[in-house]
Amino acid sequence: MSPRPARRRVAVVGTGAIVTGSHLPALRAHADRTELVAAVDVDPARLDAFRAEAGADVAGYTSTGDMLDAVRPDLVLIGTPPSLHREQTVAALKAGAWVLCEKPLCLSLAEYDDIAAAEEASGAYASVVFQHRYGSGAAHARHLLASGELGAPLVAHCQTTWHRDAAYYAVPWRGRWSTEGGGPTMGHGIHQYDLLLHLLGPWSEVRAMASRLVHDTESEDVSTALVRFENGALATVVNSVLSPDEVSRVRVDCADATVELTHMYGHRNDDWTYTPARHVAPERAAAWRTPAADVPSSHTAQLGAVLDAWDAGARPPGSGPDARATLEFAAALYKAAFTGRPVLAGEIASGDPFHTAMHGGHPDWAPEERA
Ligand SMILES: NC(=O)c1ccc[n+]([C@@H]2O[C@H](COP(=O)([O-])OP(=O)(O)OC[C@H]3O[C@@H](n4cnc5c(N)ncnc54)[C@H](O)[C@@H]3O)[C@@H](O)[C@H]2O)c1
Repeated sequence: MSPRPARRRVAVVGTGAIVTGSHLPALRAHADRTELVAAVDVDPARLDAFRAEAGADVAGYTSTGDMLDAVRPDLVLIGTPPSLHREQTVAALKAGAWVLCEKPLCLSLAEYDDIAAAEEASGAYASVVFQHRYGSGAAHARHLLASGELGAPLVAHCQTTWHRDAAYYAVPWRGRWSTEGGGPTMGHGIHQYDLLLHLLGPWSEVRAMASRLVHDTESEDVSTALVRFENGALATVVNSVLSPDEVSRVRVDCADATVELTHMYGHRNDDWTYTPARHVAPERAAAWRTPAADVPSSHTAQLGAVLDAWDAGARPPGSGPDARATLEFAAALYKAAFTGRPVLAGEIASGDPFHTAMHGGHPDWAPEERA
């Protein structure tokens, strides 16, 4: 019998809401495979509160560089505001650590190139947190779609209709291109369209609109898009923080069935429904029921997948081309919205203003142009 792999020494960077509320429980759930050894925050009060909550012997630092030099962790979990992700991810990779970083992984495709170069140089990997890909319901739906069991995918809807008030946008890093990277396209709907891309595969063309209707923000507070996928399916995508009746939904109409996920911030098997077309025999449709194991979508499920990849010596899910694809979709949506033209997959290359920033330097949206 091969020996059990050693527990990975883990550090967290940023000890705010998501790290305390989701990464810490994930580490506890995987305590047989991980050991939390260090935490970093520039705010000493938040750092102390986190260390008290973590309840173990967790070293505290106010600088990521100091922590990396002193601790040399195996894995770094990053939950800081988005503008810090690129720099902290690159620093952790250079120190030889694997990274699991909160969404969005970085603010632009140009920033992603820096992360890819650091991965290449270090041999370590950086994954982005998209917890809704993980969990049994999503894995099962992806398998049924990919195997052709539901028939050809034809029409899809991807809806993030959430509500955020002025107090939410009073937090200084929110609603600004330089710190959040964008509005609900980058910050909220990105979870749902990441799942849509995970289910339907590569897209080929995006048309879009974006507006700032309510909030006093630099970035948009609503965006909508029409998407054509390589497999021929057509989809609508809505990213809103203006919707009093809140819901997260992904629905795919295939030739033989509609598969639909309705949830808010996380799903279980029961949140997925399969509606057979009239020509489908009941016994065939019965076999689509979600699996007996009910793994909720969660940071715990994604951390488990990263640790599994590590033990197998493989690139972790949510890293590399997987992470880039979602960021490219965001850039394409913004470019289509701000230029009023369709955007084709692969067209946003180095030198394109939407490669450098999601606002693409557009005079109505770029902060330096509007000032
Ligand atoms: N996956 C999800 O479902 C989900 C949900 C909410 C937020 N998020 C993401 O998590 C990230 C953090 O969001 P949050 O709501 O936890 O924010 P937060 O403001 O509660 O926490 C951020 C923490 O980072 C600390 N920080 C700031 N600068 C730092 C630095 N240079 N070094 C170390 N620490 C620093 C802050 O002091 C704060 O404690 C964002 O990218 C956000 O989009 C993801």
